[in-house]
Amino acid sequence: MYDVIMKKRNGFSLTEEEIRFFVQGYTKGEIPDYQVSALMMAIYFQGMSKEETLTLTMEMAKSGDMLDLSEIKGIKVDKHSTGGVGDKTSLALTPMVAACSISVAKMSGRGLGHTGGTIDKLESFTGFTTGISRETFIKNVNEIGIAIMGQTADLAPADKKLYALRDVTATVDQMSLIASSIMSKKLAAGADAIVLDVKTGSGAFMKTLEDSIALAKEMVDIGNGAGRNTIAVVSDMDQPLGYAVGNSLEVIEAIETLKGNGPADFTELVMELGSQMLIAGEKANSKEEAKKLLQDTIENGTALDKFAEFVKAQGGDERAVYDTTLLPKASVIREIKSDEEGYIHKIQCDEIGICSLILGGGRETKESEIDLSVGFVLTKKIGDYVKQGDTLAIMHANDTAKADTAEKRFKAAYTIANDPVQKPGMIKTVIA
Ligand code: URA
Repeated sequence: MYDVIMKKRNGFSLTEEEIRFFVQGYTKGEIPDYQVSALMMAIYFQGMSKEETLTLTMEMAKSGDMLDLSEIKGIKVDKHSTGGVGDKTSLALTPMVAACSISVAKMSGRGLGHTGGTIDKLESFTGFTTGISRETFIKNVNEIGIAIMGQTADLAPADKKLYALRDVTATVDQMSLIASSIMSKKLAAGADAIVLDVKTGSGAFMKTLEDSIALAKEMVDIGNGAGRNTIAVVSDMDQPLGYAVGNSLEVIEAIETLKGNGPADFTELVMELGSQMLIAGEKANSKEEAKKLLQDTIENGTALDKFAEFVKAQGGDERAVYDTTLLPKASVIREIKSDEEGYIHKIQCDEIGICSLILGGGRETKESEIDLSVGFVLTKKIGDYVKQGDTLAIMHANDTAKADTAEKRFKAAYTIANDPVQKPGMIKTVIA
């Protein structure tokens, strides 16, 4: 291991054998944290070539179970988001594409930080569970077209260990390490094609467009290099996605989108990602054709019914899909008013996520319980004009002291000025 660290420290490329040696040795507990920490720091400064990055990804993917989805008919298409504030995309997207006969066999995580993950959001439906067996997972995908399972402990365990180590050694934000970490889990999860939603902006992991595009390219190269058709959409996260931030509030917004009443920016993103999934799954030949098929699932109600079918199949109360008053509700509803007049220039997006966390909508530690009912529904976004006293958002809380703290911070996240400003575009670029 000493030689491997020195070789990378001195700027040389590691061989496949050397990468396999440290990944396997570390996973088995044969190589100590301090040596792997030193190697991560050497990689941080020296980087990795495309070949090294692909090898690292494959080795991490193979460190645990590689899910075999061959019992599922057709091309399996997975979708992954690098995460952001108000990101309820999977909730609306998966029933739409499943209604177009794409098999969605998805492994999702819970959120740590600002807001809940897809699984937390789905738990807004009483009884919903992602703790299903592999057999039920496969059966549900074959019968209804969607199943979502929680990430098992044996999915890329090498990444789990390495990510935890990087987290405490200031080596998370290295492009090849991030790309290989995300893609190792996607490759192990077994889909034939992968559509990535790489976020960019103040609420995203990658704050600049340049970095987001570089990350998207690295991940697309890894996916294609591993024989999985991979496409990345780089999308805006400089303000919350749609209007709703918070678990059950986001579920309601996703349901409204399935009924054709979704916010324009969110609908545009769902349509773009959905089109890429339909093309990758060979259900459409062009974006125009794909968008028409997706639009049809909204207009004829099949997407909404598919969502209800999926919720029911995983133990949830599907009546809430048709009657959202059955979802968790907060007790304190308060309008947040603007103190200033002018155009909204900036919404510090990660701050809005933190406000939701303050209300209880996210997890501070792995053990924290999430309050599914709290959050915000924005009424104004970047480019909108507000007068003093106009409502910026409706806050949903269960504790007035937390609501007071969150309200102050929420207002401070807005930059309002006199001159007009353009609304940011949703889709920045597509990398295939
Ligand atoms: N998400 C991951 O799964 N891994 C990283 O390294 C960063 C974000």
